[in-house]
Amino acid sequence: MSGRTAVLSGVGGWLPPRLVTNDDLAAQLDTSDEWITSRTGIRQRFVVTPGLSTSGLAVEAGRRALASAGTASVDLLVLATTTPDHPCPATAPEVAAALGLGEIPAFDVGAVCTGFLYALASAASMISAGVAGSALVIGADTFSTILDPGDRTTRAIFGDGAGAVVLRAGTAREPGAVLGFDLGSDGSQADLITVPGGGSEHRSNGLPDAEGRFFRMQGRSVFRNAVTRMSESCRALTQRVGWPVESVDRVVAHQANSRILAAVGSELGLPQDRLVVNLDRVGNTVAASIPLALTDAVHSGEMAPGDRVLLCAFGGGLTWGAAALELPRLSAEPLPAPKP
Ligand code: UT7
Repeated sequence: MSGRTAVLSGVGGWLPPRLVTNDDLAAQLDTSDEWITSRTGIRQRFVVTPGLSTSGLAVEAGRRALASAGTASVDLLVLATTTPDHPCPATAPEVAAALGLGEIPAFDVGAVCTGFLYALASAASMISAGVAGSALVIGADTFSTILDPGDRTTRAIFGDGAGAVVLRAGTAREPGAVLGFDLGSDGSQADLITVPGGGSEHRSNGLPDAEGRFFRMQGRSVFRNAVTRMSESCRALTQRVGWPVESVDRVVAHQANSRILAAVGSELGLPQDRLVVNLDRVGNTVAASIPLALTDAVHSGEMAPGDRVLLCAFGGGLTWGAAALELPRLSAEPLPAPKP
């Protein structure tokens, strides 16, 4: 990218109040802390309580990102989510109104676990094109509301949450400049990650709304695809922005499974400590995953200004992508730490 470029200026995240440990799940389902920890790296996740939906989490994350950027206004809001408050309208306008952002353009983006990167690319492109001078980009999901209560595999992995970043117009030479994206999709494998019911296909066939409303995932195929697609996307993007892969300081990859993160690190030939990991504490939070991990790493000081950072994700669609930036000087409030 050259000329006018989107620059990262704030980060923030929020988690819902109810903590669910692996032992809590083991008390309800045929699973164990040992299985979940060894196969996924996840130790706990947070879920919404009645009355709290995706917009509520998105507003809190957005508020924190705006505070981190030291601003109370932006020109654009893009919300990545697969669990909007309602099928219609989009959730983003309500979030913008709740944040007091005025009558700005606000829309939802749906790319499941890759949603945040698609939203980031949309907002960054609108900034580069001069459509907006700044943007709040939020990833928020409440997958606990669409999981099958009896499905031990998905319940072990997913948690709820929201993360957000603020972008402003600047130049490619500034710290924080978003230097490029690599995005892709393969709809021929749409059935690997799906909520089959509740959409137009289902309704036009006259099937009841309740049919097929739970999230389904073919874990093993998704695992293989996730490793390949994220590694390839990172590699393609490093070539495009002119970074030798080994010069990447930190990879903030979608937090789905610690074994996937380790495999991506190996594929890229990077030491494991270059991969940011916070899934042990929050689980797989879908569109919130990358901005939550980024917020955690900025708050803990695990990433330093000037670090070459790759963001990368893989999710339903299938979709995947990567983004490259050099970390600017940022501050982030700690994520809340709700108790059981
Ligand atoms: O976020 C977007 C994309 N999502 C992902 O990237 C997730 C990718 N996939 C994964 O992370 C892993 O495939 C899972 C964690 C979902 C599953 O791990 P796995 O090592 O691939 O297990 P598996 O699906 O091959 O299942 C192995 C066994 C099965 O039992 P049998 O058939 O061998 O008797 C499962 O029924 O493990 C069983 N199993 C469980 N056992 C105890 C599956 N889930 C659980 C569980 N507790 N929670």
